[in-house]
Amino acid sequence: MSVLDARMKLLVERQRLGFVATVCPDGTPNLSPKGTTVVWNDDHLVFADIHSPGTVSNLQSNPAVEINVVDAIVRKGYRFKGTARVLGDGALFDEILAFLRKRGVASPIKHIVLVKVDRALPLVSPAYDAGATEEEVRSHWQEYWRSIDRADSTRTGKIPSPPSAASTAAGYDLVAAEYARRIYGELEAKPFDRAFLDRLAKGIPAGEVLDLGCGPGHVGKYLRERGIPGRGLDISHEMVRVARELNPTIEFRQGDMRALPFPDRFFAGVAAFYSIIHLEPAELEHVFRELERVLRPGGLLALAFHVGNEVRHVEDLWGIKTSLDFVFFEPAQVAKALRAAGFEDIESSERAPYEPSVEAQTHRCYMVARRPGIESPDR
Ligand SMILES: Cc1cc2nc3c(=O)[nH]c(=O)nc-3n(C[C@H](O)[C@H](O)[C@H](O)COP(=O)(O)O)c2cc1C
Repeated sequence: MSVLDARMKLLVERQRLGFVATVCPDGTPNLSPKGTTVVWNDDHLVFADIHSPGTVSNLQSNPAVEINVVDAIVRKGYRFKGTARVLGDGALFDEILAFLRKRGVASPIKHIVLVKVDRALPLVSPAYDAGATEEEVRSHWQEYWRSIDRADSTRTGKIPSPPSAASTAAGYDLVAAEYARRIYGELEAKPFDRAFLDRLAKGIPAGEVLDLGCGPGHVGKYLRERGIPGRGLDISHEMVRVARELNPTIEFRQGDMRALPFPDRFFAGVAAFYSIIHLEPAELEHVFRELERVLRPGGLLALAFHVGNEVRHVEDLWGIKTSLDFVFFEPAQVAKALRAAGFEDIESSERAPYEPSVEAQTHRCYMVARRPGIESPDR
């Protein structure tokens, strides 16, 4: 029976990069990449020794080998364990050499390493643990690399493209643990924000609140402690994982505020604390319409955001490399988008920043708006 199935063969064919582990004479590991890694037949892989003296001499004294081939975008791959033969000449060497040349390997080849695969096991990233689909993981990492390109092009003076859901998710995935450490307890030092949430807790009709862009879930937790049930949503899988860990009794899920995974009229309130700050200005009205859809008639939307008209690109948050764009808004601009989306009774208040040790030094706006109507009694 074939050890290498069709999916394995396709992945190896596409990746064109294997990480080859061998054993040094002193028992220590040796790992090095081989871009010439290809499928030879149903149970053999090959790679070319172009500049791999360590790998080759290890295999000549101990043929045990493991090769990992991973798709770095989809975050899946295989680990192939087996035994290697180092070929320096002969009919088989010539046959495989001709095959590699046909595939475009032009470099001088010293040896060909033929690996008989005894065991092939799948490799799956923990990124899938929280229930992400392959498509979600793929678009996340594709966007991650686009955001790196964007950051590079900002440095080189080219025009960056606007922030997207996936780049925001990737940016927060990178800083989630540190973000939770610093932000989870932030409300303790922010009396204005607490009073704002207290007013929301008193003003909303009976029902659940959505903590939108929940981060580690501290806003939802604060409201729950005041008797308001709710759940959280965040664009970042890693943030959702952290939020679940910190608040085991609250439900959190990953999702995008541009297309909320909730039915119409599901929530009595939505608290979006510093989460519209990753939207393009042109997206505001659409997102507010989406929030209006999930709110019950009479439900309240509470927003907090940075005041201004800049986009602040951050590549380092608390010493951690990331890539996030923080979009500032003028209150009038947000109120206009709220009205266009059908909200009314808009109330806005502003405050100066707290101490630098508490938060970034930006002027802040807190806004509440109501979805019009009175809920029908059968709901
Ligand atoms: C992406 C990439 C692909 C490579 N592909 C090969 C290859 O196919 N064959 C080879 O001999 N060296 C290849 N190299 C170079 C070796 O990995 C490198 O010379 C390494 O230090 C060899 O270590 P070793 O002697 O312990 O095997 C590649 C390097 C990189 C970064």
